[in-house]
Amino acid sequence: MLDLAIRNARIVTAADRFDAQIGVKDGRITSLAEDVGPAAEEIDAAGLWVLPGGIDAHVHLDQPQGGGAVLADGFESGTRSAAAGGNTTILPFALQEKGQSLRAAVEAYHAKADGRCHTDVSFHLIITDPTPQVLGQELPALIRDGYTSFKVFMTYDDLVLNDAELIEVFDTARREKALVMVHAEGHDAIKYMTRKLEEAGRTAPYYHAESHAVVAEREATHRAISHAELTDVPIVIVHVSGREPMEQIQWARRRGRPVFAETCPQYIALTRDDLKGLNMDFEGAKYVCSPPPRDTDSQAAIWKGLRDGTFDIFSSDHCPFRFEDKAGKDVPGARTSFRWVPNGIPGVAARMPILFSEGVSKGRITPERFVQLTAANPAKLYGLYPKKGTIAVGADADLTFWDPGREVTMTHALLQDGCDYTPYEGMQIKGWPVRTLLRGRTIMAEGEVTGGPEAGQYLARGISAAAFPG
Ligand code: URP
Ligand code: ZN
Ligand code: ZN
Repeated sequence: MLDLAIRNARIVTAADRFDAQIGVKDGRITSLAEDVGPAAEEIDAAGLWVLPGGIDAHVHLDQPQGGGAVLADGFESGTRSAAAGGNTTILPFALQEKGQSLRAAVEAYHAKADGRCHTDVSFHLIITDPTPQVLGQELPALIRDGYTSFKVFMTYDDLVLNDAELIEVFDTARREKALVMVHAEGHDAIKYMTRKLEEAGRTAPYYHAESHAVVAEREATHRAISHAELTDVPIVIVHVSGREPMEQIQWARRRGRPVFAETCPQYIALTRDDLKGLNMDFEGAKYVCSPPPRDTDSQAAIWKGLRDGTFDIFSSDHCPFRFEDKAGKDVPGARTSFRWVPNGIPGVAARMPILFSEGVSKGRITPERFVQLTAANPAKLYGLYPKKGTIAVGADADLTFWDPGREVTMTHALLQDGCDYTPYEGMQIKGWPVRTLLRGRTIMAEGEVTGGPEAGQYLARGISAAAFPG
């Protein structure tokens, strides 16, 4: 007999929507049929849509920060918030600190995660110190162990790689079939803008948006694409903020280059004006992230890209700092210049409701496209498909039940993260995740996260099927 039967489901996948029952046994989907037969447990999904559980492929938890800042979420609160927002898998980052071995970074990160996960997790690496030992031995060994993607930075003093290092890292990624995620903003351009703005006395959080100029993002996107062409490797440009970097990605694709693209809620729901706060005051720090939100023209471009396939995935870039906290946005120096305000905003729980409401409910994207962007494509890009990201026989029974008509006012309390605010406070949302199953077990019902911090498992991943087909 089945462990679980879900009746009266309107199922939505990346390709289709159809009415069927879902049979679950031992955590996996074993049947999709008009009638799956008897089961030990039943869920009546009448009036709800059943979608693959969300996969948030860009999340920062318990990651060391510079300047006295501490992230507001570790694994317990971060995965709790993820579950509240309809996610079943998240991919945070194991950061290599300079001089540290990659293996040590990964082991330390496992120790932080073990026994503290309400959802499944898998780790990207962040490479900050690409020594010959790291690129020649440690990275290939870790890729074979299932750490098949990593991020590199083109800015931030303590993270930036120079062009020679980027090229060597890309070359290793091609050889080992690993997927490189690129933070594409030009470091020297940002440093120049920061100095000029400070000299002019323009130090409020708002000027963060001017210092991280779109030209710096456009230039770095082009440079990363060029290095990827030189070394013949697929890359993902993460957190793309608007029209100009998108045009670089489209240009690369016209040249036949495998360049993948990610965007995030802040680029459709916020603009740089939010960084003005109430009156160019410190409230603006609540919206400081990199790249920063741009303008309404860029928002329109992002929507077009979400529709036309320019974007493959929609992630949160959840990177939460408490606002009223000397180890958060208010670190020493932050009120003297935007330069010291920690970069990053929360979003792991808000990601899918925002895209559902602004996208599906407002008719900008189809439900199937929503599934592609939030679950199926992240699974394909990062080596989790078809175990994750779809509703099919053999897949894990990771399912999110959506009430497409539910109207909710976004408040921070609903999101259950460790932060003390949401940038989306007061936003009117239509369409809400009301229940989440992880391997057939309910981990969230009506906002209550019920699975416990041992419900989630660590997932070793395969090679990216999207980036390295065949
Ligand atoms: O401002 C941001 N995005 N902070 C998180 C780190 C990153 O670059 O993704
Ligand atoms: Zn980044
Ligand atoms: Zn990030």
